[in-house]
Amino acid sequence: MPNPKQKNNNSSKKKKIKFQTVRGMRDILPEEQIYWNKIRKAVDRVAVDYNYGRIDTPIVEPTNLFERTTGKETDVVKKEMYKFETQSGKKVSLRPEGTPSIVRAYIEHGMRTKPSPIKLFYIGPMFRHDRPQKGRYREFFQFGFEAIGEQDPILDAQIIQTALRIFSSIGISKTALQVNSIGCQECRPNYDNLLVSYLKNRKQALCMDCKDRLKKNPLRILDCKEEKCTQVVTQAPQAVDHLCPDCKKHFIYLLECLDELKITYSINPHLVRGLDYYTKTVFEIWSKDDEEGRVALGGGGRYDYLVEKLGGKKTPGVGFAAGMDRIVEEMKERGIKGAKTSQPKVFLAQLGDLAKMKSLSIFQGLEKAGITVAESFGRGNLKTQLKKANQLKVDLVLIMGQRESLDETVIIKDMTGGNQEVVTLGKVVIEVKKKLKKIKKEVRVK
Ligand code: HAM
Repeated sequence: MPNPKQKNNNSSKKKKIKFQTVRGMRDILPEEQIYWNKIRKAVDRVAVDYNYGRIDTPIVEPTNLFERTTGKETDVVKKEMYKFETQSGKKVSLRPEGTPSIVRAYIEHGMRTKPSPIKLFYIGPMFRHDRPQKGRYREFFQFGFEAIGEQDPILDAQIIQTALRIFSSIGISKTALQVNSIGCQECRPNYDNLLVSYLKNRKQALCMDCKDRLKKNPLRILDCKEEKCTQVVTQAPQAVDHLCPDCKKHFIYLLECLDELKITYSINPHLVRGLDYYTKTVFEIWSKDDEEGRVALGGGGRYDYLVEKLGGKKTPGVGFAAGMDRIVEEMKERGIKGAKTSQPKVFLAQLGDLAKMKSLSIFQGLEKAGITVAESFGRGNLKTQLKKANQLKVDLVLIMGQRESLDETVIIKDMTGGNQEVVTLGKVVIEVKKKLKKIKKEVRVK
């Protein structure tokens, strides 16, 4: 006979939480925010320094925006997009990346008439329905920088410099930069033909996906991670050897700029990136030099036909985006601290209903004066409140008991020296400021 008590225990253990985040999506809790804040602060600061203006675009966009730009045959659009129909039957998608939206906004708001290049940056969630694993989520966050309207390769170098500047100001100084050039409309068709004829002869050795790519997207075979494909690809013709004079000049100038900036890079002839719109420069920034456990923190490149593809006038562009989730993981692995938060220096304790009510306006007065105050309004027990104040290591505790609330006074207890003083409500802010200043001075002298 099963023990009914036992059964009860088991069923309570098995009791499931009713609602949880969707697979591949996460909550970012308050204690995690210090890392995210550090990234956001670095992005904001570098954006000001390099003259980028913030743009926010909708998370939902027409599905064909991504089909036309990111590419119908890319994994991102073909396999990973969250597509749905609105109630009125419009086909829309959760954005898998930011660049198409920025180019759409560039055209929609007539930014062409403003002085070039238009420099825009964004921070926000992106969605890709890929297999979730460490560093790969279905909802993830990117920051991205796009410079639209300038053909000069110096912009490519500056975009790379901007990305590395953000990483270094977060504390991630050691990264590995890979660059490549995949040509333009002039030289790419010729290269594609060479590549296809090389690969066709070795078709049997390719994975199923790459056999399919051979017809639709041969360039992507170059960065397939399947062992059998990487072997085939090692001897394949390389785009850098078949660039037209213009692309060659562009690439060489970019490399010279990187040398001038003393930015270390390696040329990866197999780097093509998984999105269709790139021309000429492509690059990726990796967390480490060696293969083991490294992740791409960011990537980007030039997209000189993208504006035109979306119906605008022929306008060149270059940009990059970086994955914030991966940066946070990298920060933790490297032991990089998050952004500093302002710790409360004052704790407000109260006893009795009248005192509790009066504490609200004391709190407001201190907060308006820029003093961060901790409190525990829900607790009536003074001992518990003082215990919390101790845990928070505040400098001052303000106590308003029943007597003080009737007298319109507050006790200010100095937690560093132990002395306490009674002050009238009208003088609380001035006295607290004075005492905090004195404590700060004493700490400095010590
Ligand atoms: P991307 O390489 O697809 O480029 O994404 C940029 C970065 O986003 C990646 O290097 C990675 O750090 C992060 N990322 C991508 N997918 C995930 C994921 N599933 N989970 C976590 N992090 C992820 C772009 O998105 C282009 N729009 C970049 C660009 C801007 N090119 C020109 N301008």
